[in-house]
Amino acid sequence: MKRMLTDLDLKGKRVLLRADLNVPLDDKGNITDDTRIYMELPTIRYILKQGAKLIICSHLGRPKGEFNQKYSMFPVAQQLIKYLINKIYFAVDVVGPDAMEKAKNLKEGEILLLENLRFHKEEELNDLYFAKKLASMADVYIDDAFGTIHRKHASIYRVAKLLPKNGMGFLMGKEINTITEAMENPKRPLVVVLGGAKVSDKIGVVKNLMEKADYVLIGGAMAFTFLKAKGYDVGKSIVDDESLGVAREILEKAEAEGKKIVLPIDVAATETYSPNASARCYDVDKIPSNLMGLDIGPKTIKLYKSIIKSGKTFIWNGPMGVFEFSNFSKGTEAIAKAIAKTGGFSIVGGGDSVAAVKLLRLENKFTHLSTGGGATLALLEGAELPGLEALTDVKEN
Ligand code: 3PG
Repeated sequence: MKRMLTDLDLKGKRVLLRADLNVPLDDKGNITDDTRIYMELPTIRYILKQGAKLIICSHLGRPKGEFNQKYSMFPVAQQLIKYLINKIYFAVDVVGPDAMEKAKNLKEGEILLLENLRFHKEEELNDLYFAKKLASMADVYIDDAFGTIHRKHASIYRVAKLLPKNGMGFLMGKEINTITEAMENPKRPLVVVLGGAKVSDKIGVVKNLMEKADYVLIGGAMAFTFLKAKGYDVGKSIVDDESLGVAREILEKAEAEGKKIVLPIDVAATETYSPNASARCYDVDKIPSNLMGLDIGPKTIKLYKSIIKSGKTFIWNGPMGVFEFSNFSKGTEAIAKAIAKTGGFSIVGGGDSVAAVKLLRLENKFTHLSTGGGATLALLEGAELPGLEALTDVKEN
């Protein structure tokens, strides 16, 4: 078991908080969804209330190891100012003179936000020297960057090792506990809904959850790989050909062990991938060869809704179709509404499905909206999580 921030004495300490403030920005640099900032506030407020000097670091986007104004953390600092009454400083570098000087002069109850960690290639290389410079600014390290828990980067892995007085923030604790609880100890039936594109990205998740779930409902582009693996002609639908073999293996294993992997029985299809494309529905054995499926069809929606209605716990990751195109959003919308209606224990993860839930204003009907994309998948898959592994165990206190 890992320590929580509440187990540490933070009074008067310099605390380095690794957060995941990787928020989406528009062309003008405006934050379009500040959920990740908002969700970080309880940890930030707690640390400040203890009388600590708080240094926050995060990555934003993928600037590939060099400075790029487009990925500056400055808009994040401006957003933090809107939520907090504490004094907030911004460092124009990460481990350079500005950061070092401002960290040194920081007073209790004040915040310093560092520039984007990924402006240094050393961050993603998990570089020791870079990590030492970061660690030198603080006495205590708190990791609350759940969205990045699957990355073995310097600010996540090395720094935790260099600052053994470390612990998890509230967001990380909540994400891990809620998702693990849903998988390990679910009220049954446990219904998993998986959508999105590439099977290769989610194959580990399908395998792991197939063992635990009562039903795995497949949708999104991923469904076409499974349908093709079953021998259907899916026309021009997107298929991850490299994953056909694994998809076949999974289906055979599911059949042999009586696991319920449920595939679409009909789809909504069209000629061209375009926002104005009109939808026509076909059973999966009758998809015309010149069409591509972009959503699950009405019969599938009915089938999936009836399974969801019987469920008590839900894990949902990935939309059922091209949700951004109005004619192909019905599947995702129906799944969101059906899960919300059950009042069961529900977790939704992954940028697109969370966005869909918010667009439908159903966020209050879900138990947990995960801030993690790849991180949630890694946790569901049972993959290695360097961000968690690097933290000190309670027994090592
Ligand atoms: C995310 O948005 O999923 C996290 O911030 C991790 O970002 P990354 O995939 O660029 O490492």
